[in-house]
Amino acid sequence: MSKILVTGGLGFIGSHTVVELQNEGYEVVIIDDLSNSSENVLDGITAITGKTPIFEKLDLKEKADVEAFFAKHNDVVGVIHFAASKAVGESVQEPLLYYENNISTLVYILKELRKLPSASFIFSSSCTVYGQADELPITENAPVKPAESPYGNTKQIGEEIIRDTCKITPSLKAIALRYFNPIGAHESVEIGELPLGVPLNLVPFITQTAAGVREQLSVFGDDYPTPDGTCIRDYIHVVDLAKAHVIALQRLLEEKNKENYETFNLGTGKGSSVLEVVQSFEKVSGEKLNYKIVGRREGDVISAYADTTKAAEELGWKTKLSLDDAVLSAWKWEQKVRS
Ligand code: WQD
Repeated sequence: MSKILVTGGLGFIGSHTVVELQNEGYEVVIIDDLSNSSENVLDGITAITGKTPIFEKLDLKEKADVEAFFAKHNDVVGVIHFAASKAVGESVQEPLLYYENNISTLVYILKELRKLPSASFIFSSSCTVYGQADELPITENAPVKPAESPYGNTKQIGEEIIRDTCKITPSLKAIALRYFNPIGAHESVEIGELPLGVPLNLVPFITQTAAGVREQLSVFGDDYPTPDGTCIRDYIHVVDLAKAHVIALQRLLEEKNKENYETFNLGTGKGSSVLEVVQSFEKVSGEKLNYKIVGRREGDVISAYADTTKAAEELGWKTKLSLDDAVLSAWKWEQKVRS
């Protein structure tokens, strides 16, 4: 079985991707520093797949530890790199923490991959790199705009580092996956987005409000130039997203890539407003949500949703799950966590 390293593999998207990798028969080794996850996520993965991945608690900022890991696991053929800090607001307050954690770790991993006879690398990027795109839906050729936060800048810089490294490393193939808005949880309710701290993102805030953990959802502005005045995003079910990672990895392992560095947008292709997400929640849960309209949030783009053509044509992948499926799965996970 091909051995795949998943960094940040106990995190939200990472754990769902580990499940899909194991379902496809890959041997998985996880590196996670547990700064935004928990070791008992391993139990959830095992409950779903019947297999427990190898787990090594490791801080990727420690260069010597990264070198030692690759010396021990020199049979790794692919890496899916999720490990990074990802809170937009926090990155504005702590830019150096974000540049250190998101950039130095990427450099150390790429240095090790360059030593392998062949390596396939999947990078967790974000639609954040586009900022407010001039044209919708957003294609991979849309211009990368000046980042609105150090977090977004680390994704842009990360992509450039990978591109430049691939240029001088014939044995290294890489794909950057630009996610839109991942939401939801595995249907088994064995894994999901761990509710660590006050949620920054919309859907966990909705489910925690409905669960009585939060008093009320604040809707950040309804005076945008959109049909109902609230911002539009492309909410993608995390399981659809996880499956795309396996497909992208297989593209590289089977050498079907056209360039040795490629980018793909991962979204549903459909935009949903904040109020439409609230309405979806009320419909699928049967719960009335307590929310109020407040002022705009600094840094929000008005509208972002993916052009899914390239992923459909090149990866043969498109989402199968709907907004309602994703919102319901998030609600079921919330109820499980609170039970
Ligand atoms: C979605 C919409 C908010 C919370 C961020 C990162 C992006 C990616 C996904 C990491 C916006 C509104 C939100 C709330 C609200 N993360 N909202 N009340 O900002 O599109 O993307 O998370 O890769 O990089 O930028 O997601 O869920 O925070 O916001 O009204 O309590 O919901 O204003 O319009 P966002 P989000």
